[in-house]
Amino acid sequence: MKLLIFGSTGSIGRPLVEQALEQGHTVTAFARTPAKLDIQHPNPKVAQGDVMSLASVEKAVQGQDAVLCVLGSGGQRKGTIRSEGTR
Ligand SMILES: NC(=O)c1ccc[n+]([C@@H]2O[C@H](COP(=O)([O-])OP(=O)(O)OC[C@H]3O[C@@H](n4cnc5c(N)ncnc54)[C@H](OP(=O)(O)O)[C@@H]3O)[C@@H](O)[C@H]2O)c1
Repeated sequence: MKLLIFGSTGSIGRPLVEQALEQGHTVTAFARTPAKLDIQHPNPKVAQGDVMSLASVEKAVQGQDAVLCVLGSGGQRKGTIRSEGTR
């Protein structure tokens, strides 16, 4: 499947991206800072953007079969990125 993953640089997102690639999916990692991805795979697809930017989200979801969302705010457990970003 063609998968788009939000939160790809996070503690859950990184292994999620790697596991999806290992299972043969075509993965696009959505990231604010692609340099943080550090994926040990020859051809990861990357979509640079911020989930609060509707334009970057709309562009990234084009042509995908499914979207996985593991947005978070680190250890703070504060903020609205999970509710607002997912919405
Ligand atoms: N870790 C756990 O043990 C655990 C357990 C249960 C549930 N969860 C839940 O699972 C989710 C992910 O947890 P986590 O520990 O992987 O979180 P995390 O390490 O803080 O990662 C959060 C991810 O969200 C991204 N992000 C935040 N704001 C963004 C924005 N405006 N646009 C694009 N990306 C944005 C971060 O990107 P940047 O790198 O650019 O900041 C990062 O990739 C959370 O909802 C958390 O509550 C986690």
